[in-house]
Amino acid sequence: MSSTFRTAVIRTPAGPDSIEIIEVPVVDPGPGEVRVEIAAASVNPVDLALADGMFHELGFVDQPDHTGIGWDFAGTVTAVGPDVDVPAGARVAGLVTGFDRDYGTYAEQLIVAATDIALVPDGLDLTAAATVPMNGLAAAQAVDLLGDGAGRTLLVTGAAGTVGAYAVTFARERGWLVTGLARTDDERFVRDLGADFTTRTDARAWDAVVDAAALQERGLALVRDNGVFVGVRPGAEPKAERGVTVGAVSVQPDGTRLARLLADTASGRLTARVHAVVPLEQAAEAHRAVAKGGVRGKYVIQP
Ligand SMILES: NC(=O)c1ccc[n+]([C@@H]2O[C@H](COP(=O)([O-])OP(=O)(O)OC[C@H]3O[C@@H](n4cnc5c(N)ncnc54)[C@H](OP(=O)(O)O)[C@@H]3O)[C@@H](O)[C@H]2O)c1
Repeated sequence: MSSTFRTAVIRTPAGPDSIEIIEVPVVDPGPGEVRVEIAAASVNPVDLALADGMFHELGFVDQPDHTGIGWDFAGTVTAVGPDVDVPAGARVAGLVTGFDRDYGTYAEQLIVAATDIALVPDGLDLTAAATVPMNGLAAAQAVDLLGDGAGRTLLVTGAAGTVGAYAVTFARERGWLVTGLARTDDERFVRDLGADFTTRTDARAWDAVVDAAALQERGLALVRDNGVFVGVRPGAEPKAERGVTVGAVSVQPDGTRLARLLADTASGRLTARVHAVVPLEQAAEAHRAVAKGGVRGKYVIQP
């Protein structure tokens, strides 16, 4: 086995052109950890923001040389540390959060806590599985912040996006009457999720908003007085007004819940949305394409 592996990192953030592929030493998993050979890693908006320097500016990145990029992945366990009962050879998916790390999931390998991964069911391919952890968990945890709907109305902004579509599904299951805000061309997709559809952003008409389009203040303005707003930018929530409860999801790894999301994807109850598959060398091109907007489903990187 090679003593190094390839990983995409950011040294000085300056957009997609600052994504660099370097070789770093292979590390052995410590107690409670596994090493995964990554088969697929999805491109998420947070990765674009990292490459643009947003998190460096916020002071979240404190790395001497470079910082790794990529949050979710699917792959195969190649080594296990002490106190881990996942066998080598297992197909898994998972999520790594935070910004201070030497490498992320745009990499050939990853060391990750065994509690933060889940087995990928037979019949679900690793490319599809890689689209689930970040956005499935974020949507589920956003809906946790809402609680039960009991017939109240909810607007999900960005309902044709990855987080948004999951949020529509999970909120409906908890009794919310859901409307999806999306682009005109997304109407069929949103209605097929079982939601009503709107393109309007000028009505203060909803008991709650899950703001998966990150409209921020414009999203908050759509909530009725004393309603609930759940954003997707923790630490940068819009200022509370009119008695609206304002929160934001900050996605956390959760292997147990991820296992359920993957099972539901394998059974077809949830849909994995892959837009395109690209090699690691084309990460910058994928970032440029995502930045333009209009992409539905994930770019998936295959290291
Ligand atoms: N805090 C967390 O833990 C967490 C975790 C995961 C994701 N997020 C955040 O959640 C957001 C969504 O992520 P994602 O992966 O689901 O992105 P995505 O798939 O690109 O979805 C965003 C959707 O919002 C739509 N949109 C944007 N502005 C709109 C508008 N004015 N009207 C209607 N639709 C609009 C986009 O359409 P167009 O492409 O046509 O613009 C796109 O369909 C991102 O901001 C991401 O950073 C946060």
